[in-house]
Amino acid sequence: LASIDVDLAAVQPGQAIKISWRGLPVFARNLTQAEQDAANKVPVASLRDPQTLAERTKEGHTNWLITLGVCTHLGCVPLGAGEGETKGDFGGYFCPCHGSQYDTAARIRSGPAPKNLEVPQYAFKSPTSVTIG
Ligand code: FES
Repeated sequence: LASIDVDLAAVQPGQAIKISWRGLPVFARNLTQAEQDAANKVPVASLRDPQTLAERTKEGHTNWLITLGVCTHLGCVPLGAGEGETKGDFGGYFCPCHGSQYDTAARIRSGPAPKNLEVPQYAFKSPTSVTIG
């Protein structure tokens, strides 16, 4: 009831998909090495909601960024999971409602949102499948 299994095998590096979980959009992004490097280069102390990529992913699976697709400003669904190049200025997600920009670790980088996109509870069942919830 509360959890879903998601097969990530078809999601190529650089791609993100949108899943529905408990009526909420969830984004699963397969980060390229360059996207992981970009996230790791940012001084954590400079962030509005300071978290490392490692803290937002699972050990051994740091290429998989799984977050709610719910802007932490007023709850719109950001663009960047399945809309081609609409990733915003920081390579992650862009909220069209009031312009919040999230980076490749889905951390808030500009605009009015106060927090990073939330990471739900999930666990890997295999290298390319997860149970969310
Ligand atoms: Fe996303 Fe306002 S709801 S910026």
